[in-house]
Amino acid sequence: MNIGFVVNFMTHLDGKKIFVTGGAGFIGSHLCAKLSSSSRKLTVYDNLSSGKVENVKHLPNVHFVKGDILDLKKLRSQEKTDLIFHLAAQVVVPYSMENPIIDFETNARGTLNVLEKARKDDARLVFASTAAVYGNPAKLPTSEDYGFNPFSCYGLSKVVGEEYCDMYSKQYGLDITIMRFANVYGSRCHGVINDFFDKLMRNPEQLEIIGTGLQSRDFVHVSDIVEALILSTKGRTAIGKTYNLGYGETIQIIDLAKLIIKLLNLSRKTAISTTNTSWHGDVKTIWFNINKAKKELNWTPKITLEDTLKEMISERRLGK
Ligand SMILES: NC(=O)c1ccc[n+]([C@@H]2O[C@H](COP(=O)([O-])OP(=O)(O)OC[C@H]3O[C@@H](n4cnc5c(N)ncnc54)[C@H](O)[C@@H]3O)[C@@H](O)[C@H]2O)c1
Repeated sequence: MNIGFVVNFMTHLDGKKIFVTGGAGFIGSHLCAKLSSSSRKLTVYDNLSSGKVENVKHLPNVHFVKGDILDLKKLRSQEKTDLIFHLAAQVVVPYSMENPIIDFETNARGTLNVLEKARKDDARLVFASTAAVYGNPAKLPTSEDYGFNPFSCYGLSKVVGEEYCDMYSKQYGLDITIMRFANVYGSRCHGVINDFFDKLMRNPEQLEIIGTGLQSRDFVHVSDIVEALILSTKGRTAIGKTYNLGYGETIQIIDLAKLIIKLLNLSRKTAISTTNTSWHGDVKTIWFNINKAKKELNWTPKITLEDTLKEMISERRLGK
């Protein structure tokens, strides 16, 4: 990577006060690690429902506040900020189908509360949205202008969050960017990749896929997501815009399972099975068209799934 780029791509944030909701979670903590690498005033606001304070407490320049985005009074009483990355959310699709009201509260009302803080502070805001707003799109790879067609309560509550962002942008003139993530992976991630590794560590002879295995996903590395989030805050290009952030390729879950098994040299040993039943709200395919982010943010995802899987295997000392 170009060293000048590494040094310069964040200088526009020098001296800025930054507020990260959900900063103790998977993506948020990677973002904070990047932001805190040079001297910035960084507040992490997280209720620790799924995040961990250990993910951020070792970072320099980080002020951690245990707080809930549903606590509007506490949120608004935090020190004035220049920039908000809003990542706090209920992120589990099946949970959203079992608990639609809790999901709505966190993702819709919670986002509205964060927008109120942004309005009070006149802060710029970047909102973490999701592929789930598209549901099962008829057009693949899917572009930002496809429109909303959520297939889960999670997708719907994120649509509401996006719509409020749009309203606050139009009516109050707030500077807002919406980032729709595909399937993000990397260290501390939750989801199918770790599930496969954990199962194979327990029993290398058997790998059960939850679902049909025919679902397919666009996996993008968390470092690439962090880079795009930071690039989106540079200048005014991304203001009022929505971007897809994925790798721009899709892989069936059964093929992901086979790839992991191959990389572990287990092809002769491991039998794959599927539960054959999906969960409520599960979508068939996620595959993003990422041309807009490439062109306008000058961003290209660099990290490949296969390279990361190899790294994870060596970190976990598997396949030996
Ligand atoms: N991980 C992915 O593949 C993915 C894909 C699409 C979108 N996203 C979005 O990215 C964001 C971050 O996701 P993640 O994967 O890091 O999830 P995560 O669960 O690791 O992080 C979410 C964080 O929000 C915090 N939180 C939850 N409810 C809160 C509340 N009411 N008040 C304050 N904090 C609260 C949690 O404690 C956690 O630290 C979310 O908005 C999610 O919808 C993630």
